[in-house]
Amino acid sequence: MNQEKADHITILAIESSCDDTSASVIRDGKVLSNIISTQTAHAQYGGVVPEMASREHQIHILPVVDTALQEAQVRKSELSAIAFTRGPGLLGSLIVGVNFAKSLALSLDIPLIDVHHMHAHVLAHFAETPHPEFPFLSLTVSGGHTQIIKVNSHTDMEILGQTLDDAAGEAFDKTGKMLGLPYPAGPHVDRLAQEGEAIYEFSKAKVGPYEFSFSGLKTSVLYFLRKKMADDPDFIKKELSNICASAQKTILDMLMDKLIYASEQTGIKHVSIAGGVSANSGLRKYLKDVSTEKGWTYYIPDFQYCRDNAAMIGITAYYKYLNQDFCNHDVSAEARLAF
Ligand code: KG4
Ligand code: ZN
Repeated sequence: MNQEKADHITILAIESSCDDTSASVIRDGKVLSNIISTQTAHAQYGGVVPEMASREHQIHILPVVDTALQEAQVRKSELSAIAFTRGPGLLGSLIVGVNFAKSLALSLDIPLIDVHHMHAHVLAHFAETPHPEFPFLSLTVSGGHTQIIKVNSHTDMEILGQTLDDAAGEAFDKTGKMLGLPYPAGPHVDRLAQEGEAIYEFSKAKVGPYEFSFSGLKTSVLYFLRKKMADDPDFIKKELSNICASAQKTILDMLMDKLIYASEQTGIKHVSIAGGVSANSGLRKYLKDVSTEKGWTYYIPDFQYCRDNAAMIGITAYYKYLNQDFCNHDVSAEARLAF
């Protein structure tokens, strides 16, 4: 065994659950590289086309892995383990990452570590310092998930509440699509909302205290736009930033109301946000303001760790490695992997 390999835990991690091909090298729990290749070809279709996503992963995975190793200045022979996203996600996309990871681990004769994509979003905070203190609450908001998670340790977390239908990111994307914004619309809605005022009211679903529901928002926005456009066909053009600010406020109020409730119920005052939607500037400000008011300690990941990325997979794998929690080489991808 070479000296680097004997002295350090060095993990190559691969993420390919949706439309980002990413690879990262983690040494002793620290990020040495985090390469993310985003597929832009989906924008013209207004959403991710699964068949196209898996083809794109096939094209990008090898150069992305090579770049991650080069940037980290790590040779394959120094690797202690290979980690990968097992699920949840698009099956065809996951399979590309899983098979690549399996082949590499087999050829290097090193352990393989399977990672749950949503556990990894929660642990993305451990890619940076300071680390959140346990137990903490994570509001995990992405294009596919909206969850409030009680995080007891690196390996023990429980879902307190989640969405009954659409995810928060989907609510942003679908609202933006109705306004003619490109996919994914979340960042565009965010940018426009900063220039507008939340002067319009959209309905909020009445659900259980820990539950979310966003599917009613798109209907509410749709009827509102139909009515306004009938009176003035230029309404969207004139009012775009105010509509974005109003829709964003509705989504953020729903998210933060439940997070406040969860903190009151559990007594936990260490609070974090994770997932692609945690890049939202309004959500970041909202969390800071509520934290000041409630005496919370809050954690917001750097943008590269909010979105889908392999560093969060590698960080999660590092804690699994410490527990020698490896998987068999005949493991398969799981589109609906249980939490
Ligand atoms: O975590 P992520 O990169 O992928 C999934 O696992 O889904 O999240 C992507 C989602 C998309 O719905 C995108 O529109 C949303 O995150 N998003 C945002 C912002 N940046 C990304 N939503 C609101 N504001 C943003 N700044
Ligand atoms: Zn994600």
